[in-house]
Amino acid sequence: MQLCRTVAEVRSLRPKFARLGFVPTMGYLHEGHLRLVRRAKAACGAAAVSIFVNPIQFAADDDLERYPRDLARDLALAEAAGTDFVFAPEAGELYPRGFTTRVDVGLTEGAENRARPGHFAGVATVVTKLFNIIQPSLAVFGQKDAEQAAVIRKLARDLDLGIKIEIAPTAREADGLAMSSRNSYLTPSERAAAVVLSRALQAAEFAFAQGERDPAVLRARALTVLAAEPLARVDYVAVADPDTLNPLSLPAERILLSLAARIGATRLIDNTVLG
Ligand code: PAF
Repeated sequence: MQLCRTVAEVRSLRPKFARLGFVPTMGYLHEGHLRLVRRAKAACGAAAVSIFVNPIQFAADDDLERYPRDLARDLALAEAAGTDFVFAPEAGELYPRGFTTRVDVGLTEGAENRARPGHFAGVATVVTKLFNIIQPSLAVFGQKDAEQAAVIRKLARDLDLGIKIEIAPTAREADGLAMSSRNSYLTPSERAAAVVLSRALQAAEFAFAQGERDPAVLRARALTVLAAEPLARVDYVAVADPDTLNPLSLPAERILLSLAARIGATRLIDNTVLG
Protein backbone atom coordinates (compact mmCIF):
# COMPACT_ATOMS: atom_id res chain seq x y z
CA MET A 1 0.00 0.00 0.00
CA GLN A 2 1.31 3.41 -0.95
CA LEU A 3 0.90 6.67 1.02
CA CYS A 4 0.46 9.80 -1.10
CA ARG A 5 0.84 13.20 0.54
CA THR A 6 0.47 15.37 -2.55
CA VAL A 7 -1.89 15.72 -5.49
CA ALA A 8 1.06 15.15 -7.84
CA GLU A 9 1.81 11.78 -6.20
CA VAL A 10 -1.80 10.64 -6.69
CA ARG A 11 -1.78 11.82 -10.31
CA SER A 12 1.33 9.77 -11.11
CA LEU A 13 -0.04 6.65 -9.37
CA ARG A 14 -3.63 6.76 -10.68
CA PRO A 15 -2.99 5.36 -14.23
CA LYS A 16 -1.87 2.04 -12.66
CA PHE A 17 -5.51 1.22 -11.86
CA ALA A 18 -8.09 0.62 -14.58
CA ARG A 19 -11.02 0.81 -12.15
CA LEU A 20 -10.73 2.32 -8.69
CA GLY A 21 -13.14 2.33 -5.76
CA PHE A 22 -12.77 5.28 -3.37
CA VAL A 23 -13.65 5.82 0.28
CA PRO A 24 -13.25 9.42 1.53
CA THR A 25 -12.72 9.61 5.30
CA MET A 26 -11.56 11.95 8.02
CA GLY A 27 -9.48 9.12 9.52
CA TYR A 28 -9.59 7.46 12.94
CA LEU A 29 -10.91 4.49 11.00
CA HIS A 30 -13.35 2.01 12.47
CA GLU A 31 -15.07 -1.13 11.21
CA GLY A 32 -17.71 0.99 9.44
CA HIS A 33 -15.03 2.60 7.23
CA LEU A 34 -13.30 -0.74 6.66
CA ARG A 35 -16.52 -2.29 5.36
CA LEU A 36 -16.71 0.54 2.81
CA VAL A 37 -13.11 -0.14 1.78
CA ARG A 38 -13.76 -3.86 1.33
CA ARG A 39 -16.85 -3.04 -0.74
CA ALA A 40 -14.88 -0.59 -2.94
CA LYS A 41 -12.13 -3.17 -3.45
CA ALA A 42 -14.56 -5.99 -4.26
CA ALA A 43 -16.43 -3.84 -6.79
CA CYS A 44 -13.41 -2.35 -8.60
CA GLY A 45 -10.42 -4.59 -7.86
CA ALA A 46 -8.54 -1.62 -6.37
CA ALA A 47 -9.35 0.79 -3.55
CA ALA A 48 -8.14 4.22 -2.47
CA VAL A 49 -8.85 5.88 0.88
CA SER A 50 -8.44 9.56 1.68
CA ILE A 51 -7.68 10.64 5.23
CA PHE A 52 -8.23 14.36 5.69
CA VAL A 53 -9.88 16.25 8.54
CA ASN A 54 -11.48 18.87 6.32
CA PRO A 55 -11.32 22.25 8.11
CA ILE A 56 -13.93 23.96 5.91
CA GLN A 57 -16.74 21.63 7.01
CA PHE A 58 -16.27 22.57 10.69
CA ALA A 59 -17.81 25.70 12.24
CA ALA A 60 -15.71 27.84 14.60
CA ASP A 61 -17.26 26.17 17.67
CA ASP A 62 -17.02 22.61 16.25
CA ASP A 63 -14.49 19.94 17.25
CA LEU A 64 -11.87 20.49 14.50
CA GLU A 65 -8.89 20.69 16.89
CA ARG A 66 -10.16 17.88 19.05
CA TYR A 67 -11.14 15.51 16.21
CA PRO A 68 -9.30 12.20 16.84
CA ARG A 69 -6.27 11.52 14.62
CA ASP A 70 -3.93 8.51 14.42
CA LEU A 71 -2.40 8.17 10.97
CA ALA A 72 -0.11 5.22 11.79
CA ARG A 73 -3.04 3.17 13.09
CA ASP A 74 -5.23 4.23 10.13
CA LEU A 75 -2.58 3.15 7.62
CA ALA A 76 -2.28 -0.30 9.21
CA LEU A 77 -6.08 -0.75 9.23
CA ALA A 78 -6.48 0.52 5.65
CA GLU A 79 -3.76 -1.79 4.39
CA ALA A 80 -5.26 -4.83 6.15
CA ALA A 81 -8.65 -4.03 4.52
CA GLY A 82 -7.05 -4.17 1.05
CA THR A 83 -6.43 -0.47 0.30
CA ASP A 84 -4.05 0.11 -2.61
CA PHE A 85 -3.21 3.70 -1.73
CA VAL A 86 -4.05 6.30 0.89
CA PHE A 87 -4.18 10.00 0.11
CA ALA A 88 -3.47 11.96 3.32
CA PRO A 89 -2.69 15.56 2.39
CA GLU A 90 -1.87 18.48 4.68
CA ALA A 91 -4.53 21.23 4.70
CA GLY A 92 -2.27 23.52 2.63
CA GLU A 93 -2.13 20.95 -0.18
CA LEU A 94 -5.90 21.10 -0.72
CA TYR A 95 -6.45 24.71 0.36
CA PRO A 96 -3.50 26.82 -0.70
CA ARG A 97 -3.47 30.51 0.18
CA GLY A 98 -6.22 32.31 -1.71
CA PHE A 99 -8.57 29.31 -2.02
CA THR A 100 -12.15 30.65 -2.02
CA THR A 101 -14.29 28.30 -4.19
CA ARG A 102 -17.30 26.58 -2.61
CA VAL A 103 -19.50 23.87 -4.13
CA ASP A 104 -23.06 24.40 -2.93
CA VAL A 105 -25.46 21.60 -3.84
CA GLY A 106 -28.47 23.55 -2.59
CA LEU A 107 -30.25 20.83 -0.60
CA THR A 108 -31.07 23.38 2.06
CA GLU A 109 -34.12 21.86 3.77
CA GLY A 110 -32.39 19.10 5.74
CA ALA A 111 -32.31 19.31 9.54
CA GLU A 112 -28.54 18.73 9.68
CA ASN A 113 -27.98 21.53 7.17
CA ARG A 114 -30.07 23.86 9.28
CA ALA A 115 -28.20 22.81 12.43
CA ARG A 116 -24.77 23.21 10.78
CA PRO A 117 -24.92 26.09 8.27
CA GLY A 118 -22.10 25.86 5.73
CA HIS A 119 -21.19 22.29 6.69
CA PHE A 120 -22.43 20.63 3.50
CA ALA A 121 -20.82 23.25 1.24
CA GLY A 122 -17.56 22.30 2.99
CA VAL A 123 -18.27 18.60 2.43
CA ALA A 124 -19.31 19.06 -1.22
CA THR A 125 -16.24 21.21 -1.91
CA VAL A 126 -13.72 18.74 -0.50
CA VAL A 127 -15.47 15.72 -2.05
CA THR A 128 -15.47 17.43 -5.47
CA LYS A 129 -11.74 18.12 -5.09
CA LEU A 130 -11.04 14.56 -3.96
CA PHE A 131 -13.06 13.14 -6.87
CA ASN A 132 -11.08 15.31 -9.31
CA ILE A 133 -7.77 14.24 -7.79
CA ILE A 134 -8.48 10.51 -7.32
CA GLN A 135 -10.73 10.05 -10.39
CA PRO A 136 -12.54 7.00 -8.97
CA SER A 137 -14.96 4.78 -10.90
CA LEU A 138 -17.00 4.28 -7.71
CA ALA A 139 -17.18 6.09 -4.36
CA VAL A 140 -18.68 4.46 -1.28
CA PHE A 141 -20.23 6.39 1.63
CA GLY A 142 -22.09 5.31 4.76
CA GLN A 143 -25.82 5.77 5.34
CA LYS A 144 -25.09 7.06 8.87
CA ASP A 145 -24.59 10.50 7.33
CA ALA A 146 -27.92 10.38 5.48
CA GLU A 147 -27.97 14.05 4.50
CA GLN A 148 -24.38 13.87 3.32
CA ALA A 149 -25.32 10.83 1.21
CA ALA A 150 -28.17 12.80 -0.42
CA VAL A 151 -25.84 15.76 -1.04
CA ILE A 152 -23.15 13.57 -2.68
CA ARG A 153 -25.67 11.72 -4.85
CA LYS A 154 -27.05 15.03 -6.08
CA LEU A 155 -23.58 16.48 -6.59
CA ALA A 156 -22.56 13.53 -8.79
CA ARG A 157 -25.81 13.72 -10.75
CA ASP A 158 -26.00 17.50 -11.18
CA LEU A 159 -22.36 17.88 -12.22
CA ASP A 160 -22.29 14.76 -14.49
CA LEU A 161 -19.26 13.47 -12.60
CA GLY A 162 -19.51 9.98 -14.12
CA ILE A 163 -18.72 8.41 -10.73
CA LYS A 164 -21.00 5.75 -9.33
CA ILE A 165 -22.08 6.60 -5.79
CA GLU A 166 -22.90 3.74 -3.46
CA ILE A 167 -24.38 4.17 0.01
CA ALA A 168 -23.67 1.29 2.41
CA PRO A 169 -25.81 0.47 5.47
CA THR A 170 -24.78 2.01 8.79
CA ALA A 171 -22.35 -0.21 10.69
CA ARG A 172 -23.45 -0.65 14.30
CA GLU A 173 -21.94 -1.83 17.58
CA ALA A 174 -23.52 -4.94 19.14
CA ASP A 175 -25.96 -2.80 21.18
CA GLY A 176 -27.06 -0.78 18.13
CA LEU A 177 -24.96 2.40 18.50
CA ALA A 178 -23.91 3.63 15.04
CA MET A 179 -20.12 3.40 14.60
CA SER A 180 -18.49 6.81 14.52
CA SER A 181 -15.01 8.18 15.12
CA ARG A 182 -16.66 10.60 17.58
CA ASN A 183 -17.76 7.68 19.81
CA SER A 184 -14.16 7.76 21.09
CA TYR A 185 -15.01 10.99 22.98
CA LEU A 186 -17.61 9.23 25.16
CA THR A 187 -16.93 8.37 28.81
CA PRO A 188 -18.13 4.88 29.89
CA SER A 189 -21.42 6.26 31.29
CA GLU A 190 -21.97 8.39 28.17
CA ARG A 191 -21.22 5.38 25.97
CA ALA A 192 -23.91 3.41 27.82
CA ALA A 193 -26.38 6.30 27.40
CA ALA A 194 -25.56 6.76 23.69
CA VAL A 195 -27.48 3.63 22.76
CA VAL A 196 -30.61 5.76 23.22
CA LEU A 197 -30.17 7.14 19.68
CA SER A 198 -30.61 3.76 18.01
CA ARG A 199 -33.36 2.82 20.51
CA ALA A 200 -35.27 5.96 19.50
CA LEU A 201 -35.02 4.94 15.84
CA GLN A 202 -36.14 1.41 16.70
CA ALA A 203 -39.25 2.80 18.43
CA ALA A 204 -40.19 4.62 15.22
CA GLU A 205 -39.37 1.53 13.12
CA PHE A 206 -41.63 -0.55 15.33
CA ALA A 207 -44.51 1.90 14.95
CA PHE A 208 -43.97 2.03 11.17
CA ALA A 209 -44.00 -1.79 11.02
CA GLN A 210 -47.34 -1.68 12.91
CA GLY A 211 -48.77 0.50 10.11
CA GLU A 212 -48.18 4.01 11.47
CA ARG A 213 -47.47 6.42 8.57
CA ASP A 214 -48.05 9.81 10.20
CA PRO A 215 -44.61 11.53 10.30
CA ALA A 216 -45.55 13.56 13.40
CA VAL A 217 -46.49 10.39 15.34
CA LEU A 218 -43.32 8.57 14.23
CA ARG A 219 -41.23 11.56 15.24
CA ALA A 220 -42.97 11.70 18.63
CA ARG A 221 -42.20 8.01 19.24
CA ALA A 222 -38.48 8.63 18.75
CA LEU A 223 -38.56 11.83 20.80
CA THR A 224 -40.20 10.10 23.78
CA VAL A 225 -37.39 7.55 23.94
CA LEU A 226 -34.68 10.21 23.69
CA ALA A 227 -36.33 12.40 26.32
CA ALA A 228 -36.19 9.53 28.84
CA GLU A 229 -32.36 9.48 28.81
CA PRO A 230 -31.03 12.06 31.30
CA LEU A 231 -27.59 12.30 29.62
CA ALA A 232 -29.08 13.09 26.19
CA ARG A 233 -29.86 16.62 25.00
CA VAL A 234 -31.88 16.50 21.79
CA ASP A 235 -30.68 18.72 18.96
CA TYR A 236 -33.39 17.62 16.50
CA VAL A 237 -35.60 14.72 15.49
CA ALA A 238 -36.65 15.24 11.86
CA VAL A 239 -38.94 13.48 9.41
CA ALA A 240 -38.15 14.18 5.76
CA ASP A 241 -38.29 12.92 2.22
CA PRO A 242 -35.13 10.77 1.83
CA ASP A 243 -34.18 12.33 -1.55
CA THR A 244 -35.19 15.99 -1.33
CA LEU A 245 -34.76 16.23 2.48
CA ASN A 246 -37.93 18.35 2.56
CA PRO A 247 -39.76 18.01 5.90
CA LEU A 248 -42.81 15.73 5.77
CA SER A 249 -46.12 16.54 7.41
CA LEU A 250 -48.48 14.21 5.51
CA PRO A 251 -48.44 10.39 5.80
CA ALA A 252 -45.78 8.85 3.52
CA GLU A 253 -44.54 5.41 2.50
CA ARG A 254 -40.83 6.42 2.64
CA ILE A 255 -39.64 8.58 5.49
CA LEU A 256 -36.12 9.56 6.52
CA LEU A 257 -36.21 9.81 10.29
CA SER A 258 -32.99 11.43 11.44
CA LEU A 259 -31.85 12.70 14.79
CA ALA A 260 -29.00 14.48 16.49
CA ALA A 261 -28.34 14.59 20.21
CA ARG A 262 -25.58 15.61 22.56
CA ILE A 263 -24.42 12.98 24.99
CA GLY A 264 -22.35 15.06 27.39
CA ALA A 265 -20.25 17.27 25.12
CA THR A 266 -20.39 14.87 22.14
CA ARG A 267 -22.83 15.48 19.31
CA LEU A 268 -23.97 12.23 17.67
CA ILE A 269 -26.27 11.65 14.69
CA ASP A 270 -28.18 8.62 13.44
CA ASN A 271 -31.06 7.88 11.08
CA THR A 272 -33.28 5.25 9.57
CA VAL A 273 -35.22 5.16 6.32
CA LEU A 274 -38.72 3.89 7.12
CA GLY A 275 -40.14 1.96 4.19
O1 PAF B 1 -18.02 11.61 6.16
C1 PAF B 1 -16.88 12.11 6.32
O2 PAF B 1 -16.00 11.55 6.98
C2 PAF B 1 -16.57 13.46 5.68
O3 PAF B 1 -17.68 14.30 5.72
C3 PAF B 1 -16.01 13.33 4.25
C4 PAF B 1 -17.02 12.73 3.30
C5 PAF B 1 -14.74 12.50 4.26
C6 PAF B 1 -15.66 14.73 3.72
O4 PAF B 1 -14.70 15.37 4.53
